Amino acid sequence: MDLGSTTVYAGGRYCAYGDARVGLLTHGLQYGTGCFEGIRGFWVPEDRELYLLLLREHYERLAVSAKILMMQLPHTIDELLEITAELCARNNFETDVYVRPCIYKSAEDIGVRLHNVPDAFAIVPVPFTRYLDAAQGLRAGTSSWRRADDSAAPPRAKITGLYVNSALAKSEAVANGFDEAIMLSADGHVSEGSAENIFLVKRGVLYTPDPSQNVLEGCTRRAIVEIAQREFALEVVERAIDRSELYAADEVFFTGTAAGIVHAQSVDRRLVGDGTIGPVARKLAEYYGRVVRNGVPSYAGWLTPVYAGHRAAGLSASG
Ligand SMILES: Cc1ncc(COP(=O)(O)O)c(C=O)c1O
Repeated sequence: MDLGSTTVYAGGRYCAYGDARVGLLTHGLQYGTGCFEGIRGFWVPEDRELYLLLLREHYERLAVSAKILMMQLPHTIDELLEITAELCARNNFETDVYVRPCIYKSAEDIGVRLHNVPDAFAIVPVPFTRYLDAAQGLRAGTSSWRRADDSAAPPRAKITGLYVNSALAKSEAVANGFDEAIMLSADGHVSEGSAENIFLVKRGVLYTPDPSQNVLEGCTRRAIVEIAQREFALEVVERAIDRSELYAADEVFFTGTAAGIVHAQSVDRRLVGDGTIGPVARKLAEYYGRVVRNGVPSYAGWLTPVYAGHRAAGLSASG
């Protein structure tokens, strides 16, 4: 990815990616003491508009992650919404985007801790490229790596260092011929994928691990629960889920900002249904796909238009 000329937000100003520097001894790099978000923007050519999805929800979660790591966001949530839209506008994106805000311990010294270390904040937007190849569905495999426990390092916070857990699981899954990992908690219950939440469908009811199962409480997870309940009157149950319930399920699917909604073709080499996307996942994915591209007026509140504000203010997008 050639990011050199991309405009980013770092150190309280807009600058070129190549001009924003992080030192080798930076705490966040050496100790994983940072947290981040992944936000998507959807370009709709007919509207000539880029819509950022669930922007406020992502920044609210970042504020929680930061609080857990004893850090303070340098801006209010409202300011962050404005800065993010401005940043995308400055890049003149006319494509789907992925926006990566991060806050990290920025001291360049030795000594692991959370206290008495300054923070730094940055936002990097990039054109979005496909994260998972969803068409065929995923061959998912249960990982031998257990999900980190809240008592050790809380997955509820989107902590950079915690992604070692996900990376170990993902690479093990790929090495074993799977596309994606399913991590269990230390007690053997289903937690989540390497970068997605997980749902199963049984007799028309949706089940997903509750927030005490060491999951990141996904924005997409919440969106899908809302759409399922509100638009399709589906029952959604959040509870501990056994591994074998995945084998017995009618449907299994993953949700995540980057991944979208993608079904599991198989779990631990056991076919889910006939391996194709099931009816519940299909209708949720279709509806969600319309919502994110401003196709459902009642969900317009989930979207932050990037260029509308600029045009209204008569600003040049490159300004
Ligand atoms: C570990 C993990 N779980 C779940 C999710 C899904 O969260 P969201 O829907 O907010 O992207 C992610 C996405 O980043 C993740 O990394």
